[in-house]
Amino acid sequence: MTGELSPERVTALLDTRWLGRSLRCLASVTSTSDVARADGRAGAPHGHVVLAEFQTSGRGRRGRVWLAPPGQNLALSMLLRPSLPIDMAPTLTLIAALACRDTLAEWGVTASIKWPNDLLIDGRKVAGILSEMGLANGKLDQVIIGIGLNVNLDPRALPEPVSETATSLAAHLGQPLDRASLLACLLRHLEAAFDEMARGDVERLLDRYSRHSATLGQRVRVQLEGTPPFEGVAIGLTRRGALRVQHDSGEIRDILAGDVEKVRGVGGGQ
Ligand code: BTN
Repeated sequence: MTGELSPERVTALLDTRWLGRSLRCLASVTSTSDVARADGRAGAPHGHVVLAEFQTSGRGRRGRVWLAPPGQNLALSMLLRPSLPIDMAPTLTLIAALACRDTLAEWGVTASIKWPNDLLIDGRKVAGILSEMGLANGKLDQVIIGIGLNVNLDPRALPEPVSETATSLAAHLGQPLDRASLLACLLRHLEAAFDEMARGDVERLLDRYSRHSATLGQRVRVQLEGTPPFEGVAIGLTRRGALRVQHDSGEIRDILAGDVEKVRGVGGGQ
């Protein structure tokens, strides 16, 4: 059974302590992240999760659109109220990507993570993560982490050029998946990873992230907003989640936000 996403069914499958224990499953929204943010302002608790079968204005990183037909994938946003310094919020997003990878591994799918938080199967994107933070009195008040995971989608149904670069779990495995069970698994991995981060085990998590990275060790082209692109080698990650890139001149730059593409034909990899 490929499964519907009713709150009853999801709750029956959940084995988390705090993540998703406050849950909304909606048919159609602008963006689950809009709803999660509004719920947060109205007092929703840490770990509140909003799911939707369809988003009319799903959004991705850097102002991009997130497209998904209704009822086939997972689109969810989590409201977190972490006790973290503001500059650790990007790391939280990397950790979410690692938890997605671990979830897919449990379902027999090997995915790698393109920095900062795209999940790739054989070089094609299967999931994206968008993190948005809200501040209050100069402190991190809430972080909304939105995840779009292509589950039962036929990527050929997406418009070009996305159809060329996207995949789904069903397309990869050759069979549809039960979305509610997958979601329960995802929330379990996310909760475990966030708990580990809250305990301060950031280095260990980043080390695991690095082992599954599609970016580290690669020659990359970096595009930052408003500056010409430059090339270098992705040599590491900082504790704050920045990608450390060594320019050909030897100069090292830590990239916190930007588009990083592997330079094809150089440096091996996928
Ligand atoms: C990206 O790859 O650029 C990030 C995509 C994030 C998409 C998810 S779907 C659920 C949540 N709601 C949104 O509007 N975006 C995120």
